[in-house]
Formats: sequence, structure tokens, C-alpha cells
Amino acid sequence: MLNIALPKGRLGERVYAMFEKAGFECPSIKENNRKLIFENPTCGVRYFWVKPSDVTIYVERGAADIGVAGKDILLEYEPDVYELLDLKTGICRMAVAAPKGFRDDPRRTLKVATKFSNIAQNYYSAQGREIDIIHLNGSIEIAPILGLSDVIVDIVETGTTLKENDLEVFETVVPISARLIANKSSYKFQEEQIKALTANLAAQLQTEE
Ligand code: PRP
Repeated sequence: MLNIALPKGRLGERVYAMFEKAGFECPSIKENNRKLIFENPTCGVRYFWVKPSDVTIYVERGAADIGVAGKDILLEYEPDVYELLDLKTGICRMAVAAPKGFRDDPRRTLKVATKFSNIAQNYYSAQGREIDIIHLNGSIEIAPILGLSDVIVDIVETGTTLKENDLEVFETVVPISARLIANKSSYKFQEEQIKALTANLAAQLQTEE
């Protein structure tokens, strides 16, 4: 049985469709209920829906053999897993955003509000820029408006959230997309199945190009 952790939500549904096409189908997953675990013994798969930021925890600890996680989560938490494939979906970017007209004064410590403290720290350390991280759990966009921070480091997809809060992208930190990841020992013991799936998904992505 291959245990697969999918991020709950639209991204997970899109990715499941790709897995299904690859022959790893599990029709019961489409039933509209609140169940979180679905199994298809014929194909030897068990899927479960988890909070997107928790996928890496399941995979790293072996509760899931494989899963799908955003590159943002992989960069932030640096889990000990294999990253097998860029699924070219869930595309967005990690960016520094600030109120319109913001100018960085390098003589001052920059106050950065973010949910992604590790990514922000690494980004500014590489530039030798001194910063003060203010770790928040959501609604990051209001921090600079209220004077809690100078800038934010956050995910930008359409840019609507920034626009509606009078902020704009100041710098792009890194492009983000969903990645197929695997538990390291599962990859060894279920190598054939995982490699077959990875190859099929890669082929699907190529035909889409
Ligand atoms: C992310 C991010 C922004 C928003 C950007 O939040 O934190 O708030 O999406 O998207 P946009 O550029 O299309 O407006 P998400 O919806 O993932 O929820 P979160 O607050 O839990 O991070």
C-alpha cells in the first residue's frame, strides 16, 4: 500500500487528477463527504487530505510515503525528504512587499513581518542585511499599514491581496510551485512504484508543455 498525503483544497484536487491519470485512482475520494482517508486496495493506494503545511510532517516521519507540498514549505521547514518532481502547479512567488513608494534605508534595521521566518532570514543574511523578524501567523499584509513592520515577506499569487491593501511587490525572493516529495526509506523500499508514478507525472507535464 502506497500512502499519499495530499494538501486539502483546490491544489490537492488538481494533483489528485494527475495521480488518477497515472493509474493511481481511488474513486471514493470524489465522494462529497468529510472523510479524510480514502483507499483503493486494487491499485494499492491510500490517500489522505491534510493541511497543506502539514504534508511534509507526514512524509518526513513516514506516516505518508509520498506527498505534495509547496516549495515555500520545503524552504521554510527544510524537512528531511526527497524532492522528486516540480509539478508545475500551485505556481506563485515568495516576495518582499511594502507600502507604495517604500525606500529601504540600509542604515536602519529592517523590520520584516512574515509567516516564513526562515526564508526571510536566509534571504537577508545572503545580502548581509540586518533585519528584525516579526513572526505572524496570518493577515501579514496589515503589519506595514499599522507600523508593525517596514515590509512583509509573503506569498503573492494574483497580487490582489497586496493591491487591495495598498502594498506592492518590492523584490521577488523565489518562485514557488508544488513539489512531489517522498519519505527517504519509503523511496528505498517502494522504489518501483514511486519511480513509475514520478515518471508518469513527468510525462504528463511534458505533453502539457
Ligand atoms: C496567501 C498569502 C496572501 C495571499 C496572496 O494566503 O498569504 O495573503 O495568499 O494571494 P493573491 O496574490 O492571489 O492575493 P493564503 O490564501 O494562502 O492563506 P493564508 O492566510 O493561510 O496564508
